[in-house]
Amino acid sequence: MATHDLYAKGPGEPHWQVPATGAARFAWEYDDGRDRLLALYQKGKDKQWDGRKRIDWDLEVDPYDPLGTPEEAMILHGTPYWSRMTDRDKGELRRHFASWQFSQFLHGEQGAMICAARIVECAPDLDAKFYSATQTMDEARHAEIYARFLHEKIGLVYPIDDNLRSLLGDTLRDSRWDMPYLGMQVLIEGLALAAFGMIRDTTHKPLPRQILAYVMQDEARHEEVAERLDAERFATEERERAAEVEQTIETGRTPDA
Ligand SMILES: [Fe+2]
Ligand SMILES: [Fe+2]
Repeated sequence: MATHDLYAKGPGEPHWQVPATGAARFAWEYDDGRDRLLALYQKGKDKQWDGRKRIDWDLEVDPYDPLGTPEEAMILHGTPYWSRMTDRDKGELRRHFASWQFSQFLHGEQGAMICAARIVECAPDLDAKFYSATQTMDEARHAEIYARFLHEKIGLVYPIDDNLRSLLGDTLRDSRWDMPYLGMQVLIEGLALAAFGMIRDTTHKPLPRQILAYVMQDEARHEEVAERLDAERFATEERERAAEVEQTIETGRTPDA
């Protein structure tokens, strides 16, 4: 079924076009790679897995309780609305909330794939291009899996969250070659690891646990690259924004709400 028919509310235009600036760079030195980055490139090639085969898609998921979220963890719990809700309403709420979270993972993975591809294009050194090419493929596999989970198991998709959209837009619009590098590795990867880990550690449902565990194996490898980078170069403001997006995805609440 087309994703268009599963959106809880319309995502707007079918494409989001972010004007790219900066140069595409070719490198003519083919034998001057940093060992550690090349080792991560090799690891990236060795550790590719196929979600079609590796994930047990026959595992059943209750769309009205996809993650087995305890009542106390629901955002409306403890409010007067909660006591007025029927079990059916609570099931709907669980479905919408899980759909919203996994939809943000899905859009974030597409964003990570596009950022990684930008790095292939604009990084000056070949080792960074090689490594990012494997990461581009990793992020494509992640997006594929989250899309399948939402389509087949939940049947509902949400558009991208405004905060995530603006973080991705700013990262991609910047003409400095290292902005998508730092933006993705430090902000988006950090955010993904925290949000995925939080759900993996709190759900006992086998399919989402399996998906998150496999995706996190790859994300941990991406994080190794992030550790190499001079994170201090990032403005505090950017870090604060990343923390806000992370909090929004984990709780469904914007920080000042
Ligand atoms: Fe990813
Ligand atoms: Fe990643």
